Order: sequence, then C-alpha cells, then structure tokens
Amino acid sequence: MSTIRLPGLVDAHVHLREPGYEYKEDFATGTMAALAGGVTTVLDMPNTNPPTSTPERLADKARRAAAQAVCDVGLFVGATNTEADAYLPVAPQACGLKIYVSDTFGSLRIDTLALMHRLFRTWAAQAAQVGYRMNGAPHGLGPITVHAEELMLPVCLALSHLYAVPLHIAHVSRRSEIELIRAAKERGLPVTCEATPHHLFLSTDDLPRLGACGDMRPRLATPDDVAALWENLEFVDIFATDHAPHTLVEKGIGVSEAPAAPPPGVPGLETMLPLLLTAAQDGRLTLDDIMMRCSDNPRRIYGLPMQPETWIEVDVDAAYELTNADLKTKVGWTPFAGQRVYGRIERVVLRGESVYARGEVLAAPGSGKVLFQGL
Ligand code: NCD
Ligand code: ZN
Repeated sequence: MSTIRLPGLVDAHVHLREPGYEYKEDFATGTMAALAGGVTTVLDMPNTNPPTSTPERLADKARRAAAQAVCDVGLFVGATNTEADAYLPVAPQACGLKIYVSDTFGSLRIDTLALMHRLFRTWAAQAAQVGYRMNGAPHGLGPITVHAEELMLPVCLALSHLYAVPLHIAHVSRRSEIELIRAAKERGLPVTCEATPHHLFLSTDDLPRLGACGDMRPRLATPDDVAALWENLEFVDIFATDHAPHTLVEKGIGVSEAPAAPPPGVPGLETMLPLLLTAAQDGRLTLDDIMMRCSDNPRRIYGLPMQPETWIEVDVDAAYELTNADLKTKVGWTPFAGQRVYGRIERVVLRGESVYARGEVLAAPGSGKVLFQGL
C-alpha cells in the first residue's frame, strides 16, 4: 500500500441539478460525490430549471449551495435567447459565462450569430471595466465557456479572437476539434479546452454495451477521435467530468417501456481520479499530467482562490472494480461499472478539517464555500 498526498482536485464542469431537477442530484449529494472523488472545488453549470440567467436566480442558487454544499462551489451564469444579457449585473459573481450552441439538455441554447456576437461584445465591454480574473486579479470576469461542437467551434474561436475574450472549450471529443484548437493555440489565441474521462476512456465501440448509459453530449466518438485526444494531450488544459446525472429510469433501464428520448448525460465525479490514476499505472499519463489538469490549470483559467490546508490522501496501488454500489451521486450508477481501476481516495482534508474518510462524508452541510459571492 502506498498512500500519497495530493492537492484537492477541481472539477470545472458539473451539473448539480438544483433547482428543478433535485430528483437527479442536489447540492448535498453532488458535493458529497465530489469529496468521494477527491474533488474539493466544483464549477456548477447553469442549465437548471429555471436556468441561471438572472441576478435573482444566481442569488437563489448561491443560497442553496451555501446551505448544503460540503465542498467549494463556483456557479456559472448562462444566456438564453430571450434573456440574453440579464446576468450582466452579477457576471463577476459567476465563475464564467456558459454558452450552449450545440445539442444539449435544457433550454440554454443560443440560436443566432447576432446573439453570439452580442454576448461576446458585451462580455468584452464588461471586462474592460472590471478585468479578467484569470490574469491573477481576485475580481473580474472568468472566461466564456462554450459547448461548441463541429462547425460551431470556429465560430466561437473567431469571436474570442475578435473581441480578445478568453474562451474555454468544454468537453472536446473529436480529432477535427482538438486539431483546430491546437492550431488556434499555436497562433496565440486566448483559448483553453477540457476533455472528459468518458471521451478519453470510452468510444463508439462501447455503445452496444452501454446503450442509453453511454449517451451524452458530445456523443462518444470514434476510436480515432479518442486517439487524437491522447496524441494532443499537451493541448488539453483541463480534465473535467461533465458530471450530468440522469436516473436509470429516465435512461430506460429496468423499465418495461423504453423512453422515446432518454436525456443525454452520465455521472462522473466519483470515477475521474481512479480512471486517470489507472492510465498513470499504464504509463499513459504521469501524476504531474493529472495534477496540472485537475488542479493547477482549472485554478488558473477560472481564477479560483487557493484552499489552504487542503489535500487528499490516495492509495495509488489499491486495485478494485468500479461498481454502482456505494456511490454518493443520487442516481447511483456509472458508465464505468465493472472496470478494474487503481487508486482509492482514503481521506479528504478541506481547510484543516477531515471532510471525507474511507467512504464516509464527515463534513457538515454548508461547510463548503460559494466562490466569488462577496464581489
Ligand atoms: C448535460 C446535462 O445533462 O445537463 N448533458 C450531457 O450530455 N453532457 C448537458 C450538456 O452539458 O450538454
Ligand atoms: Zn455539461
């Protein structure tokens, strides 16, 4: 047994579902799943019901998180077609602006170039007043984070370039996309990107086995796309889960009548670190590669405050099988069930307190901080 100490991880892309979909997840269960996965900071997406697109809704979400969360939480704001700039007064209280321009779950989809143009122009104008947090300033704006697949990707890259707005590309999945991002980075564009464990460790080959439990957006890609992510790992800034829980019933598992359109998305908070550590055991990654993408880079890109006296203890040699049993996520399943992995999270210490040890969450509800609210 060899237990090592690592910094608390950041998961820069999670859907904790509150308000509106608490039957899938809530701030209590979602942040408990985070701790079980060695994650001490999560950035929560705005596609809730209602979406986080106004100051009132951000304040409501912040209150809920402050009451229930057991790890630190940053909150994204989102733009809708009908309330494009409503979030603006509270932009500095969000970790970033999330824009959906590709197929997704929920109502936050931007449909026109006119609106995209306005969102980038407005974000740049606001940043001219308050600056960007990612430059090391405690105040200011985070990046614009986009769900932009295929031909939508160059649209976002062009807007980011034209307005000098830092752009973060969520869940890159295809060879064409990572190669375009690489070219943009080599040209010096202010762009960063993330890859999820499911796009790194699963492919279309796994779909027959997984069915609806292998359905997410972006969809699982071909083995060649997966190979391209690994070949271009130096251009992948962040590993993030896109933890997007839906119930097994919604996925059509164990029900007599299959749902017409199961919602896309898979949980991931509790399985990311063991999957990455297993890749490290296989020689495909180093521990430094993991920590850079799960801690240093997300902290820099989103300007996240440091967490003093915070670490995780991981037995990197513990070998076991991932299962659906004993998960903290409310939906109780993982697309990686049955997979042999290395790396068990033994303990999580947040600001000097043991908040998780050997399967048990010890933190009191509300002991997590909601980031950027006092600004
Ligand atoms: C996400 C969800 O369920 O909220 N689903 C997914 O497949 N990733 C939405 C999204 O990120 O597009
Ligand atoms: Zn997502």
